[in-house]
Amino acid sequence: MKAIVQDRYGSPDDLELREIDRPAIGDDEVLVRVHATSVHPDVWHMIRGEPYALRLMGAGLRRPKHRVPGSDVAGTIESVGTNVTRFRPGDEVFGATFTGNLWRNGGTYAEYVAVGADCLESKPAAITFEQAAAVPISGSIALQGLREEGRIRYGQKVLINGAGGGVGTFAVQIAKAYGAHVTGIDSAGKLNTIGSIGADRVADYMKEDFTRTGEYYDLILDIAGNHPWSECKRALTPDGTYVLSGADHFGREGRRWFGSLGRFLKLAVMSPFVRQLPGLRGARDPGDRPVVLKELVEAGKLTPVVDRTFPLSDVSEAIRYLETGQARGRIVIAV
Ligand SMILES: NC(=O)c1ccc[n+]([C@@H]2O[C@H](COP(=O)([O-])OP(=O)(O)OC[C@H]3O[C@@H](n4cnc5c(N)ncnc54)[C@H](OP(=O)(O)O)[C@@H]3O)[C@@H](O)[C@H]2O)c1
Repeated sequence: MKAIVQDRYGSPDDLELREIDRPAIGDDEVLVRVHATSVHPDVWHMIRGEPYALRLMGAGLRRPKHRVPGSDVAGTIESVGTNVTRFRPGDEVFGATFTGNLWRNGGTYAEYVAVGADCLESKPAAITFEQAAAVPISGSIALQGLREEGRIRYGQKVLINGAGGGVGTFAVQIAKAYGAHVTGIDSAGKLNTIGSIGADRVADYMKEDFTRTGEYYDLILDIAGNHPWSECKRALTPDGTYVLSGADHFGREGRRWFGSLGRFLKLAVMSPFVRQLPGLRGARDPGDRPVVLKELVEAGKLTPVVDRTFPLSDVSEAIRYLETGQARGRIVIAV
């Protein structure tokens, strides 16, 4: 089969399209013919091998342990392992190839991938394979931040900082589905998109510093992470919650050893003393995120936003495009 192979950590230019063997499946796995997969920041971290801490966290010390990148998949079941009863060949499915630590290569930048059957859900008929491939990791991050960490409730005022990107476009729609009043912050060129997916109010971060407007929010989901906690807390109600989702900006913050881990750790250490910080309560995956996301799509409350689709041969170009931060929603690879 054709696959993108990563022999070393480095730059997107080190990735090569090659012929390799199809993966074998275990008893609890299925073989999926990949139709689409996504490009997201954790794929970028794996290709760069940064922050270096990820190499100690199981990704592979000197080179990636698994050579084929990618973790989101939408496709058709080709064959099933002997213990699998949920799916049959021909079923259309979507999901991520693993849960937990996202700094791993999951093998989806290929024509076929072996996946645990428990990781997959049937693809909603109303969305394309390309749209379905955008959902699993980014939708889960948004749901985790809003539901488990943020404990979002009906009628709350919610601010999404970085609302026009891969995670943000899911977060806006999920917050609306929970009945929140949503303000979306991002660059000027993305505000129309953020409004079109349901945000009640949008603002350009170059024109408005949300930490200084005098507005208070019940929940801030900070995907851009460009303000320190000391500034974000100015915009929170006394019982509000601040959830940080990321702050790396594709290595531009220069923290090559630990990335944004240091900032997450600091907030976790402070959390027993600051009621607006959720600590680690979102860390345990309740396991129902894929089902919840699928149900939101089927109910018409969540429509994945796909910026551009690249062919498998152009993965390097797709990663470089991700690094620019220009994408509205998620970038997808059609296989
Ligand atoms: N796999 C995942 O998706 C995943 C998992 C865990 C954590 N995260 C973290 O979440 C963060 C975002 O991920 P993503 O996939 O949503 O990235 P993304 O698609 O690049 O979106 C980030 C958005 O933030 C906007 N932004 C940049 N500077 C901003 C500022 N000062 N104020 C407000 N918005 C700003 C960007 O817009 P402009 O570039 O136009 O300014 C962009 O629309 C990353 O740090 C990532 O590490 C992602």
